[in-house]
Amino acid sequence: MGQRSTRSQSRHPNEEFLAFTSSVHFDSRLWKYDIAGSIAHVHALADAEVLSERELRKMVSGLRDVAESIQGGEVEFDPALEDVHMNIEKLLTDRIGATGAKLHTGRSRNDQVALDARLMTRAVLADVVAECVALQRVLLKKAEDAMGIILPGFTHLQHAQPVLLPHHLLAYFWKLQRDILRIMDCYERANISPLGSGALAGTSFKLDRCLVAKMLHMNGVTENSLDAVSDRDFAAEAAFALSLLMIHLSSLCEEIILWSSQEFGYVKLPRALSSGSSMMPQKRNPDMPELIRGKSGRVVGDLVAILTLLKSLPLAYNRDLQEDKENLFDVFDTVEASLHALTTFLAELEFDRVRMGKAAEVGLMTATDLADFLATKGVPFRTAHGIVSELAAEADGDDQRFLELADKVLWERLKDCRTSDLSLLMPAKAVERRDIDGGTSNSAVRRQMATAESTIDSNSKALKSLRSQVSSVDRLVFG
Ligand code: ARG
Repeated sequence: MGQRSTRSQSRHPNEEFLAFTSSVHFDSRLWKYDIAGSIAHVHALADAEVLSERELRKMVSGLRDVAESIQGGEVEFDPALEDVHMNIEKLLTDRIGATGAKLHTGRSRNDQVALDARLMTRAVLADVVAECVALQRVLLKKAEDAMGIILPGFTHLQHAQPVLLPHHLLAYFWKLQRDILRIMDCYERANISPLGSGALAGTSFKLDRCLVAKMLHMNGVTENSLDAVSDRDFAAEAAFALSLLMIHLSSLCEEIILWSSQEFGYVKLPRALSSGSSMMPQKRNPDMPELIRGKSGRVVGDLVAILTLLKSLPLAYNRDLQEDKENLFDVFDTVEASLHALTTFLAELEFDRVRMGKAAEVGLMTATDLADFLATKGVPFRTAHGIVSELAAEADGDDQRFLELADKVLWERLKDCRTSDLSLLMPAKAVERRDIDGGTSNSAVRRQMATAESTIDSNSKALKSLRSQVSSVDRLVFG
């Protein structure tokens, strides 16, 4: 199924033309959506009295019969019939005879393919949301388990200020949350029915377009037939939302890769989910995160291909549009596989609390706290910053020396304080001091976790309603 067959039942006299233009070897993936669209369409035809009640029943059961056969792997699509739409119509007509030939009344493949692609996009986006929520759950669980673990926070990949590991992990939770919202937003725009737009100008048959949309649980109908058949902005938008999601996954993967290196040693790679080297017996490599990082580039490439495809197309339908599918499907497959892999991988990842804690004591990470402290004692912050930066320069990266110099400065400047009685410059204290909403103190992070928990709940609710719309396709096709 879905492969080019060697059958010679050719509709077009020129074999090369057929081989070049045929798309069934990739668009056969749309079969379920095509049949669901056709079932809705025949109801509109019956409503418009183009089909009798008897013909409607025959059509619906014939289409379901075709679906069963395809599902059961009994159908080999014929490339000579060009695409999935023509193949399904032929399968139907072979089964139910002349009535089947009425299926395409008031419809063009131009509005049909736009509908199919929208239905598939909607279904995949709902699946991706579900996968994102699963990843959010793992991130939150890991964050809960990591309470109390401190590691260096970085800017420019240089030690900057200490942070809690759960705070670091939850940063990805919120990136994913925006991805989820973007994907759900894009889902709404994809979920509009173009059927009734015909080839480009609408149709002379009195088809109830809203009936079709309602049967497919879509949010409405497109307003302009030329627009409806000419655009794939829903596909470009989906590819963009998913590209940005992949970029987020890629950043997280990059950190896991860095953290697993001997230089960092912050994480232990799960044995069953990493590989060795064919030559170096000691090796353990972060293959899964590396591949996800690599695949993010591939998805961005697909997005660029889709955008470039749409550029400069005159109204309305142009055959170029057939080229959207392979890229779009590749985006779908790559993103779903990557999300799943990362969720599995992350669940098994172990953090090295000791390595992280030790690293957080290196690099004068609490210099800002010393400057802040001076500022609380009335030294203007800019001046305090200057004093501490001179100390840091003098300490030249030696943390012990920095503490001694700090102690001296405090004594000279403030008389009544010494670093020893302040424990001011301990990473744990520095973390606790940042008790502001969105900050890294234990209690701020606990508040953040509670919000994350309720965010997961509302995502799950929203997902439920998407899923019930999406499953209308299965209900129509499989009864
Ligand atoms: N297979 C085409 C596509 O994917 C749909 C068919 C429209 N063909 C046409 N000659 N108008 O866009």
